[in-house]
Amino acid sequence: MIAMTVPERYGQSVLSPDWHRERERLIAMAEVADRTTTRVLHELGLCPDWHCLEIGAGAGTVATWLAGQVTDGSVLATDIDTRWLEPTTAPNLSVSQHDVVFDPLPESAFDLIHARFVLEHLPERDTVIAKLCRSLRPGGLLVIESIASFPVDSSATPAFRDAMRAIESTLAATIGTDSAWSRTFPAPLQQHGLAQVSASVHIPATGGRNASAQCWSHTLTQLRPRIADHTPEALPAVDETLRLLDVPDFFDFAFATAICWGRNPELGSPASND
Ligand SMILES: C[S@@+](CC[C@H](N)C(=O)[O-])C[C@H]1O[C@@H](n2cnc3c(N)ncnc32)[C@H](O)[C@@H]1O
Repeated sequence: MIAMTVPERYGQSVLSPDWHRERERLIAMAEVADRTTTRVLHELGLCPDWHCLEIGAGAGTVATWLAGQVTDGSVLATDIDTRWLEPTTAPNLSVSQHDVVFDPLPESAFDLIHARFVLEHLPERDTVIAKLCRSLRPGGLLVIESIASFPVDSSATPAFRDAMRAIESTLAATIGTDSAWSRTFPAPLQQHGLAQVSASVHIPATGGRNASAQCWSHTLTQLRPRIADHTPEALPAVDETLRLLDVPDFFDFAFATAICWGRNPELGSPASND
């Protein structure tokens, strides 16, 4: 599969770590998503001696949680920008600046690789998955989480729907985000020969000034100038949605989180979903 060419990459300007409230945005994101991530990882089964790789670790909350689970193993937390990861401390947790698209990864090195809200923003997501599969040990687990846009179209609030669509189209046009890719889960893992694949979806309520409302408010605020360039007709909906996200009794569903997982087949065993 040939990756599309995009004008810029995640973090260069769009969703930049230099934005003055980016850490707050990432912390709100973690508050929305961590409970589901840790539940799924726990149910899949972690062993204390596992060596884990957390890709695009952001504020480091999942990497820190993982380090507490694999007490006889290790966690490597990577990101293109590690400024929010530096304060994370655990004896078995290390941090590395690493671009999952352009930098090499060791082969057959990890028992678990996890990436949340990263691959949908990378046009090269398919070759990245191939690279991550090569980096799994035999029997190793790959868990990918991505935003999924499908709840937005059924919103009963036109301004909210149009603002979310403006986020979707602006991210697609600038950095190549595909928020419909996750609707195909777990196909991207099946296509790379992983076994025991499956997927699930989490749709948190966005409203009541909760963490999801804060996260989307930050995302809309940061993207507003780029939405103004790309779809200026959406600005009234963006401003109305920013107002709604601060109204205590407003609730809606924004993007879902789709999660898929699969295992690198053990050497000598057939790839199967049994
Ligand atoms: C939306 S944030 C998600 C952060 C964290 N995974 C979470 O879910 O809370 C995306 C993260 O991926 C990182 N990222 C973007 N492009 C990357 C790349 N090519 N390689 C590694 N990390 C990348 C960003 O710097 C950012 O920290």
